[in-house]
Amino acid sequence: MRRLVIATAFAALAVTGALAQGDPVDQREALFKEWGRATRPVGDMLKGDAAFDLAKVQAALDLYVKNAKVLPGLFPPGATGNAQPAVWSRNDEFKALFAKFEQDATAARAAITDEASFKANFPGVVRTCGTCHETFRVKK
Ligand code: HEC
Repeated sequence: MRRLVIATAFAALAVTGALAQGDPVDQREALFKEWGRATRPVGDMLKGDAAFDLAKVQAALDLYVKNAKVLPGLFPPGATGNAQPAVWSRNDEFKALFAKFEQDATAARAAITDEASFKANFPGVVRTCGTCHETFRVKK
């Protein structure tokens, strides 16, 4: 009986903790949306639809690094959202893609100093967005 009471108390605590932290699906979608918002203007620069703006490029790369550290922890088992089952069945591969993305963004942040280095270094970084979505995100 005592054990049950303790278990119940812990379960209640766990639920409170989850509420305090929010839903991991909502949290990760908010972080992915930040990536989307930061990437769009940079994509326009790549296409030549907007003038090159080093500060915006750097801000996007900083955000890639920042969120890539947090996102892998927001896929607890069962929090399906728009994630494919592969997120959990091929979890090492999934996490490795976040790590690669973070490394590529860090390297590009150092390498990009002007428009030419931007055009040479940025596309390879954001290619991983599509690579990951291809396997790990539900297609719409
Ligand atoms: C390592 C894997 C991975 C990488 C890298 C990645 N994504 Fe995603 N992305 C996902 C998954 C999985 C989802 C689905 C999350 C969910 O809704 O449950 C997603 C969802 C999204 C969404 C939709 C969010 C919503 O509100 O439903 C956007 C926008 C997005 N990603 C943009 C990007 C951009 C831009 C990049 C690159 C700068 C990127 N992602 C890189 C895995 C990745």
